[in-house]
Amino acid sequence: MTNYHNDLILRMINGEKTERFPVWLMRQAGRILPEYRAIRGKLSGFKELVETPELAAEVTIQPVDILGVDAAIIFSDILVVPEAMGLPYEMIEAKGPYFEKRIRSEADLKTINGTVSAADNLDYVYEAIKITKRELNQRVPLIGFSGAPWTIFCYMVEGEGSKTFSKAKRILYSDPKLAHTLLDQITTVTIAYLKKQIEAGVDIIQIFDSWAGSLSPAAYSEFGTKYVRRICEAINEVPVTVFAKGAYYAREELAALDCQTIGLDWNMDIEESRKIIGMDKTLQGNLDPCVLYSDFASIEKSTKKLLNSFGNRRHIANLGHGVYPDTDPEKVKCFIEAVKAHSIN
Ligand code: CP3
Repeated sequence: MTNYHNDLILRMINGEKTERFPVWLMRQAGRILPEYRAIRGKLSGFKELVETPELAAEVTIQPVDILGVDAAIIFSDILVVPEAMGLPYEMIEAKGPYFEKRIRSEADLKTINGTVSAADNLDYVYEAIKITKRELNQRVPLIGFSGAPWTIFCYMVEGEGSKTFSKAKRILYSDPKLAHTLLDQITTVTIAYLKKQIEAGVDIIQIFDSWAGSLSPAAYSEFGTKYVRRICEAINEVPVTVFAKGAYYAREELAALDCQTIGLDWNMDIEESRKIIGMDKTLQGNLDPCVLYSDFASIEKSTKKLLNSFGNRRHIANLGHGVYPDTDPEKVKCFIEAVKAHSIN
């Protein structure tokens, strides 16, 4: 099916024997590279870059060329889905996302599109994927992604970032029916969106549940995993990775999902996670991104320790969350090189 120069990550996901651990970084596209900022600086802002397929493709490929990662991840954002459903967002410099229109009631729900046709509004993403695939020219696989329904729900209700997500959680406890209706709609649109990304050429799907850690185990089971499960069951064309940040309490439930890889954040011990999740899945992660603030020798040492904790089992080296914007790209390279220098026997 595939004929990549480097298909290490696909072989690892499939549970095949590999010569070393594959490595990439969450949020590797954008954020840290001066080459990204040079392109971004010529535009009106982040959204213009996301919506210009040729440029989105260019910044997707930058980390492959500059950092030497084993996979590319399409340059976009999880927030394109609420926008496609009818809630436009702005990305405010040094602050983050902002939605003027939010969902707080049944009446608000009536104003959005929660059907598969919403995915037709994201042609710029599919076009960026097609261009990226052509320009990558089989060097490495391409990862497509979406937010998990709970994380998207958080932005659609809050309208911006939050420490507690209490406005979003309030709906779970005060009007669970409304919550389930919106989560159901987000799931429907997300599945259609991911299928179109796959048609356009992505090789792997990652689902980011960035705010899973804000819920209790019972609430995550009812409002989180339930919908991630539906996505996993619907996507059979390519392998799926589920990264539920902060959901250490839900690892058993995540292990039962119909997905190939589980992402771990730095709070989750690798060996304990392996025991809970079992041998049938690939794990991904989980170096604390702040380790990349230490000196080169310490980064190498921490990386070796991490790799030793993988044993010779199914694992993709990565950070425990996205790389922070003020990280020195040379430190990132140091991490990547340390992974590449370690062979699996
Ligand atoms: O991984 C990659 O490099 C691919 C691109 C990607 C972006 N966002 C680009 C981006 C991916 C996978 C995302 C996912 C995303 N977006 C998540 C889930 C992952 C996570 O980190 O938890 C979330 C929660 C968002 C929402 C979002 N987008 C926020 C809160 C912000 C502002 C703060 C920040 O992360 O910089 C963004 C903006 C954003 N998305 C930027 C980039 C490169 C920075 C915008 C800029 O260039 O000014």
